[in-house]
Amino acid sequence: MAAVDRLAIDGGTPVASEAFPVGFLGSAEIGEPEIEAVTSVLRNKTVFRFLDPKNSWCTRLETKFKNLTGREHALAVGGGTAALLCGFSAVGIGDGDEVIIPGYTYIATAAAVLLCGAVPVICEIDETLTMDPADVERKITPRTRALVPVHMRGLPCDMDRLVLLARKHNLLVVEDVAQACGGSYKGRPLGSFGEAGCFSLQQYKVITAGEGGIVVTDNPDVFQRAALYHDSAMLFWQPGETKVRAFPGTNFRMNELEGALGCTQFDRLESILARTRKVKRGIVEGLQGVEGVRLAPVNCPDGDLGIAAILLCETGDRAKRFAAALNAEGIPASSVYDKTVPDRHIYCYWEYVMEKSSSDAHGRPWTSPLHDQTRRYTPDMCPQTLDVLGRSIHIDITQRYEQKHVDWIVQAVRKVAAALA
Ligand SMILES: Cc1ncc(COP(=O)(O)O)c(C=O)c1O
Repeated sequence: MAAVDRLAIDGGTPVASEAFPVGFLGSAEIGEPEIEAVTSVLRNKTVFRFLDPKNSWCTRLETKFKNLTGREHALAVGGGTAALLCGFSAVGIGDGDEVIIPGYTYIATAAAVLLCGAVPVICEIDETLTMDPADVERKITPRTRALVPVHMRGLPCDMDRLVLLARKHNLLVVEDVAQACGGSYKGRPLGSFGEAGCFSLQQYKVITAGEGGIVVTDNPDVFQRAALYHDSAMLFWQPGETKVRAFPGTNFRMNELEGALGCTQFDRLESILARTRKVKRGIVEGLQGVEGVRLAPVNCPDGDLGIAAILLCETGDRAKRFAAALNAEGIPASSVYDKTVPDRHIYCYWEYVMEKSSSDAHGRPWTSPLHDQTRRYTPDMCPQTLDVLGRSIHIDITQRYEQKHVDWIVQAVRKVAAALA
């Protein structure tokens, strides 16, 4: 075999002659606008959002999210988990309810369900890495109250089928858009499909507020209930504005420093996604017709954020060899499910779900008499999910990749596919 074709893992020359840019998406772009906005908050000495509501950065951020999603209402909160908790509580999910979530999502989705007093029911994902509508339907029981489409790695769920299913079985839909801010499905923004949509602005996300989350909804009662839940004294800050019955809340308020950072980062969203999508299109075009590996199907390629390229192999063993060979070629790739690497995005590593444990000495919510006490959780309960993730290779994409990075990814995948054929 010519030296140029010998895999780098076998001593050949790596395809990529330089390291890929590392780091995050939005936070890698933090610059003067962010610094100026955050320092202006400090200069004003007004960090609490309700001190000067007319000039609040948090309020401005909410308006930006209303415009992004086309929703009537948006509420800024302290994090994505908080957004899910507010969203679930606002739609009335609680004790005795079952909520269907995919076996591939961050553990926080399951935690938020449990913290509301409900229990998660874990469904399979399909090759799109998002919830498999056929399995969602199989998992519905008389206790099912809601389903949570999670648009993992910016990949839209099959919202047509999920929304139809929800209608057919009279279920609520709360979208987890933590990883998919700015995405869409068939032209409609992600976060605009369900009763509520929940975003995260944590540092790993496309844009960041440091920490932060947003709940969006069209339903004024859901919005008011989310606001009550996010602040135990909401009626004090906005007297007379709440028409729904009060209940105890938390403190999940966003502060003005986060609001200022979130607003300035938001203004970068369009440009970041234009660049990630261009990179992904280049990879997809370059890999047309490649043999021995294939790109994972995407429910709506136009709405995909383009922050990850997923390759599928025939077997898990092959995916691991493929990913190791790509790494040696200098490509930032990893096998998604590797038994030797615990990953809190895969249900079998959600220990407090698998073990049904909680902070409560009585074991709530698991032990609530309203829940099905025979429900069991085991690491092998979603074999299709483990199979798909085991066969998947994840190639990270950031907006800082240039044409040369696209070319290296394409060349390396083709080289490894040919060598492992
Ligand atoms: C799919 C998903 N849901 C929920 C969350 C929770 O968001 P946060 O970390 O902002 O609480 C995250 C991210 O961390 C996530 O990736």
